[in-house]
Amino acid sequence: MQKILVVDDAQMNRELLYDILEEDYAVEMAEDGEQAVGKLKEYKGAVAALLLDLRMPRMDGFAVLDAMGKEGLLRRVPVLIITGEHATEIENRCFELGVSDFIQKPFESSIVKKRVKNAVELFAYKNRLEQKVMEQEATLRKQSEIIKEQAERLREAKEFDKLMMEYRSAIMEVETRLKVLYEEFAQEYNRNPFESIKSRLKSPASIYEKLERKGFPVSVDGIRDNLTDVAGLRVICSFPDDIYRLSAFFTRQDDIILIQRKDYIKNPKPNGYRSLHLIIEVPIYLSNEKKYMKVEVQFRTIAMDFWASLEHKLKYKRNVPDADEIVRQLRACSDSIEALDYQMQEIRNRIDRSKE
Ligand code: GTP
Ligand code: MG
Repeated sequence: MQKILVVDDAQMNRELLYDILEEDYAVEMAEDGEQAVGKLKEYKGAVAALLLDLRMPRMDGFAVLDAMGKEGLLRRVPVLIITGEHATEIENRCFELGVSDFIQKPFESSIVKKRVKNAVELFAYKNRLEQKVMEQEATLRKQSEIIKEQAERLREAKEFDKLMMEYRSAIMEVETRLKVLYEEFAQEYNRNPFESIKSRLKSPASIYEKLERKGFPVSVDGIRDNLTDVAGLRVICSFPDDIYRLSAFFTRQDDIILIQRKDYIKNPKPNGYRSLHLIIEVPIYLSNEKKYMKVEVQFRTIAMDFWASLEHKLKYKRNVPDADEIVRQLRACSDSIEALDYQMQEIRNRIDRSKE
């Protein structure tokens, strides 16, 4: 049963109202304003209606209304004023304060019941409606947040796509420059400075994996500022000296900025890996700007590339039996390859000299 709180200093009024309402409600009573406020607090506002006398000792009905207004309770609990007179001025003041209705003395049982029922149902309806509106507002807020998030992601994705386009352009730029050098070599010196060029754009998955692993911000700026190998080219040459000559001509171009040069040919990695690595910045020209893009260029001989491909397979295999022995053999192969590369180069030199 719903709770009704009857607040009146006259015992007689309380009892009369109790008798009228007890059939339909759990009727609680308070003898003055202070008790009423105490009980409202005790029930945490879970009162279906408050029947309130205005004239009471200590804390009167207006003070109760005031206290309820401050707690925001007047919006949730209907208040019916128990009154003996019809002073318009007082009734007006009560309505202004948020009172729902009036119960006239002497009490007419059926009227009291109806007025209380009306007030209770109206407020229950109003509260349900407000609850629904609040829930809908929360849903809308959530949806708008999701939309904002998706828009942000889309914007990021668009920026990401743009960045990838720029890296692709940088690859084309570097590739063209190397091909121009190739053409010149072929014509001037009657030889090919490289056998082939391979290029690759790092996949989004590897990009994000590397950013996460190295603790860099996962964002377009995070990629641009911290990764040097999103755009990668591999230049496969026949002989070691082609590597040095070609890379020197390339880095000498006045708009190429050399960021880093790692010579794993002169200083092979402990596993035997050999290659010359350059991290460079190359300008690309877009419709209304010039942008410097980082590119990783690896130079290797055919033999070094052969070795690296095989060694790469080992890296991505788990639980290879005799892995230690394979590592040792790869190291030995790397030494043989070095010897072979320089031996082949020497033979080529002798052939070249004999031509003159
Ligand atoms: P990453 O973070 O792997 O790029 O290494 P890094 O930033 O220290 O640069 P490093 O110059 O050592 O390597 C760059 C690239 O060279 C690698 O991504 C590989 O493609 C290649 N590379 C380097 N070391 C090895 C190696 O031991 N074996 C093989 N197969 N490739 C290697
Ligand atoms: Mg790398």
